[in-house]
Formats: sequence, structure tokens, C-alpha cells
Amino acid sequence: MGLKSVWLVVVFLFLGVAVAKNVNRLNVWPMPKWVSRGHNRVYMSLDFQLVTDGSKYIDGSEILKDGFTRMLDVVKVAHVVDGDISSVDKSHIIKGIHVLIFSPDDQLQYGVAESYKLLVPSPEMPDYVHLEAQTVYGALHGLQTFSQLCHFNFTTRLIEVHMVPWTIIDQPRFSYRGLLIDTSRHYQPVPMIKKVIDSMAYAKLNVLHWHILWDGAYSVSERYTFSDAAEIVSYAQRRGINVLAELDVPGHALSWGHGYPSLWPSKDCQQPLDVSNEFTFKVIDGILSDFSKVFKFKFVHLGGDEVNTSCWTRTPHIKKW
Ligand SMILES: *[C@@H]1O[C@H](CO)[C@@H](O)[C@H](O)[C@H]1NC(C)=O
Ligand SMILES: *[C@@H]1O[C@H](CO)[C@@H](O)[C@H](O)[C@H]1NC(C)=O
Repeated sequence: MGLKSVWLVVVFLFLGVAVAKNVNRLNVWPMPKWVSRGHNRVYMSLDFQLVTDGSKYIDGSEILKDGFTRMLDVVKVAHVVDGDISSVDKSHIIKGIHVLIFSPDDQLQYGVAESYKLLVPSPEMPDYVHLEAQTVYGALHGLQTFSQLCHFNFTTRLIEVHMVPWTIIDQPRFSYRGLLIDTSRHYQPVPMIKKVIDSMAYAKLNVLHWHILWDGAYSVSERYTFSDAAEIVSYAQRRGINVLAELDVPGHALSWGHGYPSLWPSKDCQQPLDVSNEFTFKVIDGILSDFSKVFKFKFVHLGGDEVNTSCWTRTPHIKKW
């Protein structure tokens, strides 16, 4: 990505769960497809539980369990939730969330079902929230939405959900909802990339477009290893986010020629890559084959921007080719 996107890292500052001054406003982001709500208030039990009875999804890799724990962290922020729950009428206490997932599969691929339905409280089990989804990734979005309905009340020192009963039926309008980071121009350490992924999950984005290779803005201490990349892919996947790796060719690959001068059209004309040379394709093939060991998404991005072909027309052997 060239001039059109000078490196961009959007870090959403997560501002905690704001205490709504005006609870009449709908503070859910992004706007769900369908919402209805009431006028009552319920309180979250101090030992809010995750229940999955009837789910086809086993959660062997604990994607749901971790999502639930993160949801609680987001809801509580740093508050000490120590209100006197025993003074609350039992019929207004929500003991937990019942999550029903219909698919046993947690393959995260392009187009995976991300819809969910959230009922607070559940009509059948009024002391639970009901969340149902086709896949665990839809359920993660539902947990995200639920976290936005909850807020800490500084007077009662309890977590409350206002305007119940809520019915939210939601599904994304776009199957690809990406954010681009360009660590090839501006190195970001792995923990920072993880924070970007966290913030993407809050906003229900699902593709991290990671521009990794460019003209080589790396120093020895500022590069990613295979295991860094694998860690990022796994961290993202557990949050329902695919990683789209970008390898920018045939322009912006000037630096490659320092290691392999035959990738340059000539010593004096160094980019774009020499397309007449079979070796160029071997190198690209090798990189893509390495990519495929780590990046599981069905797409990769090959850049293709800002290709100035004057070296191709000016270099005799390429011109001839
Ligand atoms: C907190 O709880 C008190 C007591 O129930 C209530 O009067 C007040 O409206 C609540 N505050 C918010 C911001 O919900
Ligand atoms: C393309 O590169 C040549 C030299 O390699 C330069 O003279 C020319 O200005 C470049 N064209 C553009 C549009 O940048």
C-alpha cells in the first residue's frame, strides 16, 4: 500500500462501559440489525455463570469460555462489584448466560455464520440471559453486544442491565470487515498488534489485513518470527478474526535485491522485480509457501500498487521477454 495509505494503525481506545446518562439512547455498536427493549431493570449476580446445555459446540479449545471471561472483564472494568445483591428482589437477578451454539465446528473461514440472537432475560429461564448462534463466532459477537448493555452503578455497586426485556437479532451486513495495519513501514510489537485485535473484536471486525513485507523497514530487533506470526493468527482466530497477510509485489520489493541481486532488472534499475527471471517466481513461491504454513485465511494480498514499469521497458533482456 503506497501513498494512498500512509501507515495506519487505528487503536480504538476502549473507554470502559460508560454509565449511560440517558438510557433511552441505544448504546450498542455496531447497530444491531433488529432490536426491541422494555422498561425494566435487572442485576447481574456476583457469580455470573456461563451455561451451555444443549449446545452442539463442545468448546474443546475454550474459545467460548475465554470469550465469556473477556466479556466479564469488559463489563466490570476495574470496578469493585460488591453491592448488596441480597437486598435485590430475586426475580430481578440474572444468574448467568445460557449460550446455545448449533454448529460443532469452529473453522474460521471467510463467510462463516456470525449471526446471533440475544434475549435478556430468557423467556424460558427468566434468571438467565439467552444467547443463540450458529457458530461460536456469532456467540462471541453476542457476548460483545451483551457487554454493552451492562453497566456498573456507582450507587448500588452492582452491574445492571436497564431497559429489559431486550431482544436483539443481529447479523453482519458485510462478510468482510477489515482493518489494515502496516507494520512494514512502522514496526509494531506483538503485544501492540494484540491490542489492535482486541479493539477489532469490540467493533465486530473480522479481518486483520496485515501488511508485513514492503521495502524492508526492518531492523534486526524489529521483525517477526514464524512463531510471532503464528501467535498473532491464533490470538486473532480465538476472537473470530482472520489474518490477511500482504506481500507487496512486484513494486516495493527493492530491498529483496540486496540479498538476491538477480531480482533487480539491473544494478542501476532496481525495481520493480525482474519479471523475466524464473528465480523471481521461485522466491515469491517460497515466501507464499512459508505464509501458507502460518496464515490459514483463504486469501493473501499481493499488493500490486505503485508499479513503475519504466525499468522493464528500459532493460533490454526484460524488454525482449
Ligand atoms: C443506580 O441505582 C440507583 C438506585 O437504584 C438509581 O436510582 C440510579 O438511577 C442508578 N443509576 C444509574 C446511572 O443507573
Ligand atoms: C518511473 O521511474 C523512472 C526512473 O526509474 C522515473 O524517471 C520516472 O519519473 C518514474 N515515473 C513515475 C510516474 O514515477
